[in-house]
Order: sequence, then C-alpha cells, then structure tokens
Amino acid sequence: MIKVGILGAGAMGSGIAQVASQAGHKVVLSDRDTDALKLSEEKLSKVMSRLVEKGKIDEDRKKEIEGNISYTENLVDFSDCQLVIEAIVEKIEVKKTVFEKLEEIVDGEAILATNTSSLSIASIAAACKKPERVIGIHFFNPAPLMPLVEIIPAVQTSDETTKKSRVLIDTWKKKTVLAKDTPGFIVNRVARPFYGEALRIYDEGFADFATIDWAMKEIGGFRMGPFELMDFIGNDVNYAVTESVFQAFYNDPRYKPSFTQKRHSEAGWLGRKTNRGYYDYNTDAKKPEPNTDVKLGENILWRVLVMLINEAADALYMNIASRDDIDLAMTKGVNYPKGLLKWADEKGIDHCVETMDRLYDEYHEDRYRCSPLLRKMKKDGKTFY
Ligand code: NAI
Repeated sequence: MIKVGILGAGAMGSGIAQVASQAGHKVVLSDRDTDALKLSEEKLSKVMSRLVEKGKIDEDRKKEIEGNISYTENLVDFSDCQLVIEAIVEKIEVKKTVFEKLEEIVDGEAILATNTSSLSIASIAAACKKPERVIGIHFFNPAPLMPLVEIIPAVQTSDETTKKSRVLIDTWKKKTVLAKDTPGFIVNRVARPFYGEALRIYDEGFADFATIDWAMKEIGGFRMGPFELMDFIGNDVNYAVTESVFQAFYNDPRYKPSFTQKRHSEAGWLGRKTNRGYYDYNTDAKKPEPNTDVKLGENILWRVLVMLINEAADALYMNIASRDDIDLAMTKGVNYPKGLLKWADEKGIDHCVETMDRLYDEYHEDRYRCSPLLRKMKKDGKTFY
C-alpha cells in the first residue's frame, strides 16, 4: 500500500489524512505551522475517542489509525510518498511555489494532487517539470463524512495519473466523479443558483428568508434551505466562491453575486459562526415564521430548481462531466434529494424550457438563457435517462 503525503493540516488536510489513514495508508501530514499540526493531532484523537465511545471502532483500531499518521514540518519527509495531496491556503502563487518544491522531493512516478476548490489545475501543473503527474483531487468538507470526491485532470495530466488517482480514491470508500478543469468543477458550478436564485427571489421582494427556506425544504425535499445553508457555510466564504466563479466565467450574469449577501458579509453577519447571518442565532432570538402558502412555495421551489436544472444541463452540454457524474455529484457532494437531470426528466424537458423562456421574456437578462441542450432535447423529444 502506498504512502500518502498531505500538505496543510487545516480543516481539509486533517480530514483527508484521517480518510487515508482509515483506508490503511501510512500518512505523512505536514504543515509549516507547528500549532496547526498539534491541533490536528488532538482533533483526530478526539474524533477517534468519540468513535470508540459510540462503539464504531475499538481501542486497537483507534491506535492503528492514529499510528498511521506522522506529523512533520519538514517537506523532505514526503520523499517516499507516491501520492501527495496539497491542502494549503487558496492562493495560486503559494501553491505553484509549493508544487515546484514538492517535485524536487518526491520520486519521478509520484502523483501530485491539489485539493483546490477554485484555482485552475492547469496553472498549478504548469509550475512542475512533469505536469502530467499533477491532478485535482477535490474533497468536500468535512472530508471523513462527505462521500464525494471530484477528480480533475488538467489538460497536461496523463491518462495514467487520472486512472491511478480515481482507482485509489475509490478504495477509500469515496464516490469519485470526473470533472473538467473549469471554474467550480461540477458541484461549485452547478450549485450556484441554489444560493443565487434564492437571493434574487428575496431581493425582488417575492418572499423572505424563512419562506424561501421552508419552500426548498418542505416542498422540495432539500436537507437545508439556501439561507440556512449560507449561514452554515459562512456568508464571507460563500460570497467569495460566488464572486470567484463569476469572475472566472468572464462576468457571466448567470453567476452574478448578490448585494444582499455582500452587505451581510460586510456587516459581519457571517452566519452561525458570528451568531448572526440571515437569521439571529442568539439563544433568546425569535425564529421567523415562514408564509406557508403552498402555491407561493411551489413557485419559489420551481424557480430555483429550474435554474439548477438549466445549470446541470449546461454542464453536460459543455462536457464538464457525464450525465451520471453530474447527478451523483449533486446528490453525494451537497445532498440534493435527487439528481438534477433525473429531476428534469420527471418535470418534463418541455416544462423546463418553457419556464426558462418565460423568465427570459420577463427579465431580458442573459442570466435566464436556456441551455441549448435543453432546447435541442425538447425539439427532438428526448429525455436524459
Ligand atoms: P485551512 O486554513 O483550514 O488550512 C490550511 C493549512 O495550510 C493551515 O494549517 C496553514 O498553516 C497551512 N499552510 C498554508 N500555507 C502553507 C505552506 N506554504 N506550507 C505548508 N502549510 C501551509 O484551509 P482549508 O479550509 O483546510 O483549505 C485548504 C484547501 O482546501 C484550500 O485550497 C481550499 O480551497 C480547499 N478546500 C476547502 C474546503 C472547505 O470547505 N474548507 C472544501 C474543499 C476544498
């Protein structure tokens, strides 16, 4: 079994180290910050103790998982790792420098992967002498609990690197999907309207946060409403992703950020972590009541859903991923109750196209342009499945 190196002992690096160790690998976890390493070790020990208390693992297994991981500040300790996954700060120049250094340490056959959520894999690979061994392996937070992993080959990545990476991560009991090296990959691209269209509905004054969340959960079957979820993720973090996807798509209005979210973020109303976001999380705060008018709720749900479906269809049209991988990504990466393309079939492709065209007629904004794939499918009488 290969030895795995993880660079960055923050939220993601620590989680990935746990996953690799549980899969039986010897893991080297490195960070330039000793405190981060200490914290990571303590956190893992707590998580393992909880699993023992719950009867999920015994003491021996706890020792084995903990014993598989060694902690170091020294990158040279990666020298006998056949795979290194980088999970450091999301800055392209820092990542490029680190990849250049890593390549001097590991052997010629080792795979170098990045867990980046938003940077181009091609530009990170370009920092290396052997860019064909560089790939994106994108876990979701928290890595030990979220089953999805996006595998993202850059234009330079060899088929062998892609195949080896996918086969390996599959053995870590993860669901892997293959995504093109484009902004947001699958999940962070296709999910944008879940936040963006919900914010737009609020901005236009159709409904308040509680009503929109109620409609998406109670009628749509989503586990969390968009505003609850943004409060959970953090408005600063969620806004930054939206803005970066918007810019990366050359200001495509489909991904335009919302002033409401920007102002909440600027106000320091970041969500749960500051006790105040779209909702007030202070203990004495009164929870706002939704308007439970079913007709209104159905309209809200369908407007967000059709925008999500349109986005998923467009991702398929642009060959970002396969039909099955797009549906798997949204159900396993962000817990959607159903694959969006499957949902499109159930709702009817005609109905999707008609709604998109109605929205476009109403607003005359490029944001509401119907994917050419949906339009073609309507004409040919086709379905996704
Ligand atoms: P974090 O801030 O929790 O951890 C980053 C760690 O990297 C810190 O411990 C820091 O000391 C260390 N570090 C920074 N620069 C370093 C360097 N040059 N050499 C060695 N160590 C260095 O960050 P987080 O959230 O774990 O994110 C890491 C990466 O994973 C980023 O690329 C992020 O975009 C990506 N990601 C984050 C997700 C999330 O929800 N937090 C989800 C999926 C991907």
